[in-house]
Amino acid sequence: MADKQATLTYNDKTIDLPVLEGSVGPEVLDIRKLYGQTGAFTYDPGYKSTGSCESALTYIDGDEGVLLHRGYPIGQLAEQSSFMEVSYLLLNGELPSKDELDDFTYTISRHTMLHEQLSTFYRGFRRDAHPMAIMCGVVGALSAFYHDSTDISDPEQRKIASHRLVAKMPTIAAMAYKYSVGQPFLYPDNSLSYTGNFLRMTFGVPAEPYEVVPAVEKAMDRIFILHADHEQNASTSTVRLAGSSGANPFACIAAGIACLWGPAHGGANEAALNMLREIGTPDKIPHYIERAKDKNDPFRLMGFGHRVYKNYDPRATVMQKTVREVFDALKVNDPLFETALRLEELALQDDYFIEKKLFPNVDFYSGVILSAIGFPTTMFTALFALARTVGWVAQWNEMISDPAQVIGRPRQLYTGPTQRDYVPVGQR
Ligand code: CMC
Repeated sequence: MADKQATLTYNDKTIDLPVLEGSVGPEVLDIRKLYGQTGAFTYDPGYKSTGSCESALTYIDGDEGVLLHRGYPIGQLAEQSSFMEVSYLLLNGELPSKDELDDFTYTISRHTMLHEQLSTFYRGFRRDAHPMAIMCGVVGALSAFYHDSTDISDPEQRKIASHRLVAKMPTIAAMAYKYSVGQPFLYPDNSLSYTGNFLRMTFGVPAEPYEVVPAVEKAMDRIFILHADHEQNASTSTVRLAGSSGANPFACIAAGIACLWGPAHGGANEAALNMLREIGTPDKIPHYIERAKDKNDPFRLMGFGHRVYKNYDPRATVMQKTVREVFDALKVNDPLFETALRLEELALQDDYFIEKKLFPNVDFYSGVILSAIGFPTTMFTALFALARTVGWVAQWNEMISDPAQVIGRPRQLYTGPTQRDYVPVGQR
């Protein structure tokens, strides 16, 4: 029993609610027995006050702008670690030793190829299909190709499925891109790093050797780290909810990809760059800021605001720095970056954004970098999905291994008609 209790009085009845404490962060009122004890449900659309699970993976303090993976600050991981190491950390709980990291990297590299028949599957899509539409379809279809890793009660199969998903996502995303531009698919080259291999499969062609630019590889790897996991966001909660019914991991990750696609979530990086292009030059910024503040205008500043961060998104800080590194390495100077910087500056001086605590989020600068590297906007969310797969998989594994896990099944506040009798069509 929890030491601390909260007391709730409702309909002349007083009940005690256990107060749970995590290792850090706000206390949590345990309402699991609320319905049994009072006959009432709680109402929290959007889950602004609801914790859906216990997790030891990622911690966010939105007021302070803190993001920790297994306790390690995102800034340190982005500066000093690699995506493979962060993936190991998320999946296993601790940073690997050198041998563990080498073993893990080798294992992932051995799973980068796709079943050959999947390339036929791609050809069923229209050439102009959005890469996220292809990703939803192909990742869901993996369960039809890898039957030997869909038994979720077997920890070994869960591990193989997890490795397969992390390893194959770059191949899947690169093939989605290749298909859209009408170029041949490239097989993985396991002599390259995880990220270098992805860049080659995306931008290389069979006719010539492809040289990975180290600064771009580093920036891309960092972008993957910044997107690797983010606690119980919409797509992660979707993966958990899908998984709570016992669905196989490939189907669950496909569900996460579908949720990530929306412009309020992973689709915001695409929307943010499109917005910057629409704004064009800094002199137009005040007009767009006024539109974002106008309640009668649906326009919002994309890449601004966050459900949890009410301070600067720590990922945006790293992202802004990475823009400069990529621009220097590629010798590009996209005026949209200046527009983005000025937009941030003006918005952060505006009372509307100050009062509502709206700051740039991870997606505000990522589009500018990805575009400089050469990705079309339609690929941005696919890259987010690629990187977030390790977080989804780690969260899914954590849930399946939790003995307290049950199927997720929210209740509702019903506002439809009460019971009435059916009237045959001729009498209506
Ligand atoms: N531009 C203008 N006003 C905004 C914005 C924005 N980007 N974001 C929030 N607001 C206003 C909103 O209108 C509301 O005003 P009021 O209180 O007067 O009704 C207030 O701020 C609170 O907003 P909310 O929509 O209730 O907040 P939320 O926590 O439900 O939504 C959000 C968070 C991220 C969906 C929202 O800020 C948004 O739509 N941002 C733009 C899309 C975006 O950049 N999404 C990426 C999120 S980070 C990447 C990821 O994890 O997916």
